[in-house]
Amino acid sequence: MRKLVIAISMLSLAVSAAFADPILDRQGLMKERGKLVGGLSKIAKGEADFDAAAVLTQLQALQVNAEKFDVDALFPAGSDTGDTTASPKIWEDMAGFKSAEDKYLADVKAAVAAAPADVDALKAQVGTIGSDCGTCHQGYRIKKG
Ligand code: HEC
Repeated sequence: MRKLVIAISMLSLAVSAAFADPILDRQGLMKERGKLVGGLSKIAKGEADFDAAAVLTQLQALQVNAEKFDVDALFPAGSDTGDTTASPKIWEDMAGFKSAEDKYLADVKAAVAAAPADVDALKAQVGTIGSDCGTCHQGYRIKKG
């Protein structure tokens, strides 16, 4: 019993440490972006059925994710080292990095506001959003291995 209590308290310590780690936080949000955009691009490519309501829900989730992405909190000074692929350029050009994230958020918001009615409309939006991901990764992310 005592062992179990210790194990549980260690577990909750590990969990709260995880949430206090900006590197893990930003990677978690990025992973969620990847999952959402992956699902949307399957629909855009015709590999999954288009359902306007489901698509809108996914886009809204992408907006919530982008609105949670607080660059100041997620990229504090010193978080350029460790298990991260964030490029040092982020801290050298914080304004440029923030404006890349702002453009991305604006494009996601525009997609939500437009509420794509068919696959072609979705395709155009996924194209714009996907190029925002690519542009930022090219400029502000280092390739590992
Ligand atoms: C404003 C810049 C920016 C935008 C926009 C952006 N990313 Fe990222 N992304 C990053 C940075 C920086 C990292 C590296 C984070 C780290 O390792 O600390 C990253 C990492 C990732 C990762 C790896 C996470 C991990 O587990 O290490 C995935 C997946 C990802 N991004 C997907 C996306 C997708 C999909 C989009 C678009 C829908 C997107 N990103 C848009 C900057 C951006």
